[in-house]
Amino acid sequence: MTYSGTPNNNDLSEYTAMNDVKQLIHTVPKAELHMHIEGSLEPEMMFQLAQRNGIALPYADVDAIRKAYQFDCLQDFLDVYYQGMSVLVNEPDFYDLTWAYLQRCKAQNVVHTEIFFDPQGHTERGIAFDTVIRGISRALADGQSELGISSHLILCFLRHLDQRSAQETLDQAEPYLHLIAGVGLDSSEVGHPPSKFTEVFDRAGGLGLKRVAHAGEEGPPEYVWEALDLLHIDRIDHGNRSLEDRTLVRRIAESGIALTVCPLSNLRLAVVPDLARHPIREMLNAGLKATVNSDDPAYFGGYVNENYNALVDALNLSQREIIELVINGFEASFLDDARKQQHIQAVRGCA
Ligand code: HPA
Ligand code: ZN
Repeated sequence: MTYSGTPNNNDLSEYTAMNDVKQLIHTVPKAELHMHIEGSLEPEMMFQLAQRNGIALPYADVDAIRKAYQFDCLQDFLDVYYQGMSVLVNEPDFYDLTWAYLQRCKAQNVVHTEIFFDPQGHTERGIAFDTVIRGISRALADGQSELGISSHLILCFLRHLDQRSAQETLDQAEPYLHLIAGVGLDSSEVGHPPSKFTEVFDRAGGLGLKRVAHAGEEGPPEYVWEALDLLHIDRIDHGNRSLEDRTLVRRIAESGIALTVCPLSNLRLAVVPDLARHPIREMLNAGLKATVNSDDPAYFGGYVNENYNALVDALNLSQREIIELVINGFEASFLDDARKQQHIQAVRGCA
């Protein structure tokens, strides 16, 4: 909305309505289902950890890091993301990273979070799987006991690596299955279809793990079909390009499988040209269970609430649409039904 001179009554009521919606976004309890913990590494912490671990960064200061966060596509971002995570070395580094994210959750009334981690991003550079999972899971346990935030951990396989490496990662995870809710698939999508990982996903399913996969972020609708039919996923991460295939949209809508949508990520990685053209409303109208998430909040300009607010600014989402998205977040979570219903009742109480 733009003002020229004194706002008229229509502008004012629109402004008030938008503020009411933003107040609702702030206060309503929310779930987050798509957040890479390594993507919550803020530049300030990156510098602190670089110093703590004696690692040289190719940036002069925090401002230079933020300036470097200009991406034309997913791969542009991933190059910076893998470089950034090189400052994570010891267990306390993984603890501090996760604890900082949980404090953001607390400040934004995120009461349940399902967190991705990329073990191969660490084991490939000589950090033990144990170091990574112990640091993250200790912070998650403290998040539950000290902040009242429940969480699940999802181990992502890097799809630019081969299935053998994914299998070895699952081997390393086996002693820690009590700490892991599911497996996912992330990193460079195009050229690395879900079909590359059929066996390791079958094995994960056999171990009782949930299955999710990034699909249809940059990759074509065929990758979403493969994720559904070959990997037997419980949720689709991103899924934007599903909208190009009407049969696929019907299939996803009828299955009730949710999409974990990440608006600011989509903007910053040029998946959408502009948030005003973000398809989230189209997804809801097509009967898709869309949810709102931050993906890599330190790199894309915001945590969950900033993602909701950006959608409201760009698309003027209504209170009803916000409540639907928030409820979808709990329904699509891996919480048990009783906990889901408790959260959903609390959400309805805010409407
Ligand atoms: N897409 C794929 N891989 C990722 C992403 C993403 O948005 N963030 C971190 N790893
Ligand atoms: Zn992601």
